[in-house]
Amino acid sequence: EDLDLGGYPHYMAKEIQEQPESVERIIRGRLDDRFGVARLDGLNLTPRELRGFSRVKILGCGSAYYVGQVGATMIEELARIPADAEAASEFRYRNPIIEADTLYIAVSQSGETIDTAFAVEEIKRKGGRVVGLVNVVGSTIARACDGGVYLHAGPEIAVASTKALTNMAVGFALIALTLGRVRDLSNADGQRIIDAIRALPGQIKSILDFEPEIAEHAKTVAVAKSLFFVGRVRGYPVAREGAQKFKEISYRHAEAYQTSELKHGPLALIDEALPTVAVVPSDELTGRNLAAVQQIKARGGAVLAVTHENVDFGELDVPRIVVPKTEPELDPILLTIPLQLLAYHAALTLGYDIDKPRNLAKSVTVE
Ligand code: AGP
Repeated sequence: EDLDLGGYPHYMAKEIQEQPESVERIIRGRLDDRFGVARLDGLNLTPRELRGFSRVKILGCGSAYYVGQVGATMIEELARIPADAEAASEFRYRNPIIEADTLYIAVSQSGETIDTAFAVEEIKRKGGRVVGLVNVVGSTIARACDGGVYLHAGPEIAVASTKALTNMAVGFALIALTLGRVRDLSNADGQRIIDAIRALPGQIKSILDFEPEIAEHAKTVAVAKSLFFVGRVRGYPVAREGAQKFKEISYRHAEAYQTSELKHGPLALIDEALPTVAVVPSDELTGRNLAAVQQIKARGGAVLAVTHENVDFGELDVPRIVVPKTEPELDPILLTIPLQLLAYHAALTLGYDIDKPRNLAKSVTVE
């Protein structure tokens, strides 16, 4: 087992560091510069069929559901098809309406999560078309789907998922490109996304190089009994995933909110004892995000920002983790990486069992 660890103290640490190579693997052979498209033959969908979908519904559990929200936003932005993500565990129990012109996407690292597998079965029983975004080749969900995109993240051992989630997000970018290019997305815009996807492995590596600094931030946040993670639109699923990772391995109460919702209730909880990790990308919402940071600070709350170099915090005294800029649609992929390291180092500081957190299983195969 030690050999598999390849010198790392934990599988989670190893899997975080493997991300530049695992992202290379999911994109290898799938980007076509001539036409600004992704080649996803495994979807088993003709251009005509791809064009026929008027809605996309993404299903997954836990972090796979959160990354599904990232995917839904990418699909809406790049393909302009209404898309949303839902927890597969709820979907299967609410007699969902299955529509013939909806593309269903099941997302799962293990391919064995029972709630997601049952959601797939329900869709198929009612005549829906479902494709998989799955890591484990030949797994139950991969076999049950009508087609799909394998993640090629390699084996993931740590209960807290990292590299598989990153590949899911990249997989969604490929699917969004595929759906977009048979609709209104231009060749130039397709190429813009392709170039950005290609740059991701190097950019992830540059974030990982900042691990010592992120570890210092983790020591500070680990002291808090409770934390907020906030973001909006593209940043909200990033915040949800950041809180999830924190809960799973550091056993700290971490709650994600849409930054825009703070003033509708949660702001009442802010004080010196409750720090906030704020996702503040450089995009059309930067000003609004900064205003929310200001409101938190005004109530005595500490803020740690995950942000881009050019975001100007002015007078606000806010420690920052800076990630490289990519195309706005892909920002969530890079903004999530430091949050993995933040949770990892917080758990390390607190002395918990990082790879096998209490009460959790790597793959939930029973109800
Ligand atoms: C992620 O860190 C979690 N351990 C968990 O939420 C996980 O993503 C979820 O159980 C889904 O697993 P799957 O991807 O294997 O279906």
